[in-house]
Amino acid sequence: TMTRHEWAAEVRRLARERDAVILAHNYQRPEIQDVADHTGDSLGLSRLASTVEASTIVFCGVHFMAETAKILAPEKTVLLPDPNAGCSLADTITAEDVRAWRSDHPDAVVVAYVNTSAAVKAETDICCTSSNAADVVRSVPEDTEILFLPDQFLGAHVKRITGRDNIHVWMGECHVHAGIDGGTLRERVAEDPDAELYVHPECGCATSALYMVGAGVVPEERVRVLSTGGMLSAAKEAEADKVLIATETGMLHQLRNANPTTAFEPVNSRAECHYMKMITADKLLGTLREGTSEITVDEDTAARARRAVERMVAIGT
Ligand code: 13P
Ligand code: SF4
Repeated sequence: TMTRHEWAAEVRRLARERDAVILAHNYQRPEIQDVADHTGDSLGLSRLASTVEASTIVFCGVHFMAETAKILAPEKTVLLPDPNAGCSLADTITAEDVRAWRSDHPDAVVVAYVNTSAAVKAETDICCTSSNAADVVRSVPEDTEILFLPDQFLGAHVKRITGRDNIHVWMGECHVHAGIDGGTLRERVAEDPDAELYVHPECGCATSALYMVGAGVVPEERVRVLSTGGMLSAAKEAEADKVLIATETGMLHQLRNANPTTAFEPVNSRAECHYMKMITADKLLGTLREGTSEITVDEDTAARARRAVERMVAIGT
């Protein structure tokens, strides 16, 4: 058996041999985050996929992320160390569902969160991420109906901050973030009433966090609704003694590395995504050795999905 150090050296050697770059999402296991060339949020990693020089991308994340990388970098080989690493949120809607929903609202603009399959993206008009969802919605003329999918909590958040009531929201959810609910948040805040709060908008408690601000339980300046990339930027500048983190617990590794003088603690310590954790040290090594688990997207689907992603990028967020 290898030590962790030997494993990391072997991973780096095989990556060089294969002309591969290793990308890891912020929810990956710590050892995977540490061995990767780049760690980041889902959109940041997809953007990197199209700009890195390497001919192969080993995507340590989940299936829809590897697909998004392939859509943006069709000439590259994209490997996902476990092809069964899915996403409960992406699974709440199919391409057929989008077509049926659109046929009930033929004049609506369809806005899809990046946590969707390539087939679903191909049926949508414009993509968004957790950091730019409100800007994407504002780019749609005010009198045009919007079908927002698939996350109900992100959808509710966007409705609230844009003040638009002509947004229909798909009732999907991520089981991990839905479990970080209002009750859990209220209990955690009661234990640490002076802490700051970073809340991912997929959380069941995203609405409760803003109600708590409204009710004067927590001052407005202490609560921020952020993507995982946004959390990391905020953490680098944080001056608080303690920040409570409402998202998947893998995020804590990056936050603690970025700022050792602030304590980052989970709102719900059981909020772990088992799909993300399917990418293990052994599987990463296996993929690098064998070149297995290649992710492909058929050309027509990729071309239609790329339009939706590029429209998002074009609005400059
Ligand atoms: P971001 O990294 O884009 O914030 O996404 C969070 C998430 O749940 C990805 O699965
Ligand atoms: Fe999907 Fe939720 Fe896991 Fe992210 S944390 S990959 S949204 S199941």
